[in-house]
Amino acid sequence: MSLTFPMRALLLAAVVLSPAPGLAQARSAQLSPEQSEAAAARYQQYCALCHGPDRAGHANDHAPSLKSPSLIATGTPVVIGEAIAYGRPGTPMGAYHVEMGGPLTRQEIRELAFWLMDMAPTDPIPVADRVEGDLALGAEVYAQHCASCHGAEGEGGTGTALGNATMLALTPDGFLRHAIENGREGTPMVAFKDVLGPAQIDGVTAFLRSRSAGWAVPAPRLHQPPALDAYVINPDAAAPEFTLTDGLYVSAAELDRELKARKRMVLLDTRVTSMWERAHIEGAVPGPYYASREEVMANLPTDGTWIVAYCECPRAAAESVVRRLREAGVPNTAVLWEGIQGWVSLGYPVVQGRAAVATSP
Ligand code: HEC
Ligand code: HEC
Repeated sequence: MSLTFPMRALLLAAVVLSPAPGLAQARSAQLSPEQSEAAAARYQQYCALCHGPDRAGHANDHAPSLKSPSLIATGTPVVIGEAIAYGRPGTPMGAYHVEMGGPLTRQEIRELAFWLMDMAPTDPIPVADRVEGDLALGAEVYAQHCASCHGAEGEGGTGTALGNATMLALTPDGFLRHAIENGREGTPMVAFKDVLGPAQIDGVTAFLRSRSAGWAVPAPRLHQPPALDAYVINPDAAAPEFTLTDGLYVSAAELDRELKARKRMVLLDTRVTSMWERAHIEGAVPGPYYASREEVMANLPTDGTWIVAYCECPRAAAESVVRRLREAGVPNTAVLWEGIQGWVSLGYPVVQGRAAVATSP
């Protein structure tokens, strides 16, 4: 099934924004002072790690700016809300919607999206759902002007993952075109209107769209979090022997070796819990970066069992959790140097969560 963007937008507006007023009224001061304050606090708890305390982006993982006028003017609360709800699978941007295994309700996501827009007020610029263009020309433009930052296959790099099926499904063509033409102020994404002609910009927009693999709203199916007595892997075995780099990092090769040797440890997945749902290193338990130290520690053994934390980032979220554990005097903690993406790309295994995978046409 392939829905056109307006259809998807309506469908998803229903998911993210209900019970919201019509889209036309969606942008505006919809938040009470209390809601606004709560959204600001949630931003600091869940988002600042990567998008920066000031929303300027690029604090970690090349997370984009959430205050550039170009984004705010063309990103409706729906577009921004959907990015928060469903994330960008395969990138460090996780899904935050409870139905995806994340921590935030629809209403909380809705408030965050409105709050982001309220914080960087700008006149909305309506954008086209579809942009037609010459695909061959677009492919050429992409290879020459875009691949260096966005990756040869749109897998992302300094720039965002432009080949991401979820992103393409939840984003109108005109939103992409506007970003290409006008750039994202205050970020490495420059305006291409002085470099490329309109036909080239249309072409590369159409080229991006042509690579969309199809996407459907993933069905909510969630894991039970593991019971506390399942937190320690190989509880009766000996402790692992790690040689930490900089007193903090363990390499994927060493972690793999000690797991295969069936040593006793806790593996802490510090990403948003929806990412743990999708796939994790076998035996890993959720200990998300936004949980309080008390919440994380409540589930951990206190007998000196090694705790290895990892994230997607490759390290920022895991480091923030380990730093807090060390401040509380928890001994024997480490961060997986390569993160889970590095772990996977080195060929080490992960187990799939049962949660829906965001693909399929
Ligand atoms: C110098 C590196 C660089 C180059 C070259 C570059 N980009 Fe970007 N691009 C970025 C960065 C970084 C961002 C994220 C900016 C932010 O913080 O919002 C971005 C953002 C974007 C976005 C917005 C995506 C979203 O989800 O909001 C689009 C679309 C885009 N780029 C398309 C292109 C195209 C097409 C080209 C080639 C014509 C190109 N970019 C060239 C670095 C680059
Ligand atoms: C672990 C790092 C990380 C955290 C935490 C995080 N993000 Fe992101 N976010 C990213 C990255 C990286 C991207 C770009 C992904 C890509 O390549 O498309 C992104 C993309 C986005 C986008 C799309 C922006 C655009 O230009 O299209 C929005 C909106 C967003 N994040 C909002 C949030 C909000 C709100 C939170 C907190 C609830 C959050 N993010 C938490 C890393 C993060």
